[in-house]
Amino acid sequence: MRWLIAAVVLVAVLAGLLRWRRPAWYWLSFGVTFATCRVLGRYRAVMDACGLTVPPPRWRLAIARMANRPVPEPRAPRILRLRPTRTGLVLRLGLRPGQDAFDVAASCDRLRHSFGMFGVTSREIRSGVVELRMTGYDVLRRVQMPARAERSTMRVPVALREDGGVHYRDYRTTPHALTIGATKSGKSVYQRNLVAELAAQEVALVGIDCKQGVELFPLARRFSALADNPDTAADLLDALISHMEDVYQLIRSEQRITADTPDADIAADIWDLPDHLRPVPVVLLVDEVAELALFATKDEEKRRDRIITALARLAQLGRAAGIYLEICGQRFGSELGKGITMLRAQLSVRTAHRVNDETSANMAFGDIAPDAVLATVQIPVSAPGLAITGDASGGWSRIRTPHTSLRAAVDACNKHAHLTPDLPALDAFRPVLASPAVPVAIPAPAAPATP
Ligand SMILES: Nc1ncnc2c1ncn2[C@@H]1O[C@H](COP(=O)(O)OP(=O)(O)OP(=O)(O)O)[C@@H](O)[C@H]1O
Ligand SMILES: [Mg+2]
Repeated sequence: MRWLIAAVVLVAVLAGLLRWRRPAWYWLSFGVTFATCRVLGRYRAVMDACGLTVPPPRWRLAIARMANRPVPEPRAPRILRLRPTRTGLVLRLGLRPGQDAFDVAASCDRLRHSFGMFGVTSREIRSGVVELRMTGYDVLRRVQMPARAERSTMRVPVALREDGGVHYRDYRTTPHALTIGATKSGKSVYQRNLVAELAAQEVALVGIDCKQGVELFPLARRFSALADNPDTAADLLDALISHMEDVYQLIRSEQRITADTPDADIAADIWDLPDHLRPVPVVLLVDEVAELALFATKDEEKRRDRIITALARLAQLGRAAGIYLEICGQRFGSELGKGITMLRAQLSVRTAHRVNDETSANMAFGDIAPDAVLATVQIPVSAPGLAITGDASGGWSRIRTPHTSLRAAVDACNKHAHLTPDLPALDAFRPVLASPAVPVAIPAPAAPATP
């Protein structure tokens, strides 16, 4: 008996320790069983308490009355499926007549407390079926991407969502993106993650990093073109536009519009071209975009107009030529001058890290998802990398990227350096790879004059 008590105490201590130090392991070892029992055991009572039941139908009341039986109880949504996952539980519910998905969404916070879960979100699968995704612990505190996240052409996993799902950046469905955030909020780490993932794909990476290249130049072996100041950036963007024009010429020459060509074979973008002719897609990453839009002199103003016009043209026309924009900055609003809001309207994926004021959050979500603005201003300073992401559909979610160090990103880029394509139009901007690091001499402070 003493052995049994000792074993139970040991297991309880172990569970407590795991829950405190390694919540993901606790969930997989103990949490999932406890949570499943709790959800199934309390289901009816919780649904009743949360107002998610409907009265029984009239015919059942009539039968009960005729048979002199007790009045049937109100009915909760039917459980269609309960599936444990790596981070929580997925509960699929069949709604009763008179209920709607909004009722369930409005009760998510109450369900979270009642089932003792860390988070609950809901989404409608189809008419009458709602899925509740529950997380057993704070999955965004220490991000661990699932080892087997799906990857396909131009679709890469970049972050974990608060419901435990993977957030993908899919260039073919949403070509251009804007990422904003205050300084030290995690924008460059987000972009670095994206580069590390894209490095393994058949894609040309082109970068503009106005912080003198400190973020992107270490990854240069996987980049087909890089610019580290606004002057080079202006020339690079012009070259990218001429690349785009070449690609359109190629698509036109391959369109094959004759009466006997089936509709599906008419090429309208690079993905319709046969494999051997398809030009490699290009992802243009811009860090610190505001640097490109600021000016102090007349010449700089001309350069700024040239850059913003080129970016707007790429955003409007680039998609079919396989040119995708990924723009990062601290703010991206009309105060940066003319053309900015027109450019912003083309950037359909919006991601906002921590911001210092509501106006900055409005720049990302004001025109697409007003509730996301509130969620953005609530991001704490203590969680860099935490962000809100949304797209033009109005849906949004809280995400966090894994903390990819610069070393890990450099390793990924070096490993896939052989995939770096040569784009003839951008040859002049190909980064020069100096193998031994040249020490930069920082001038010593002048010695004080001796009397
Ligand atoms: N996903 C993350 N998880 C954990 N820590 C992170 C994450 N993202 C960023 N950080 C931390 O925040 C620091 C700042 O991140 P980052 O350089 O990406 O900020 P930034 O928004 O680009 O800032 P700036 O505008 O000054 O360039 C990083 O050095 C890292 O320590
Ligand atoms: Mg940065």
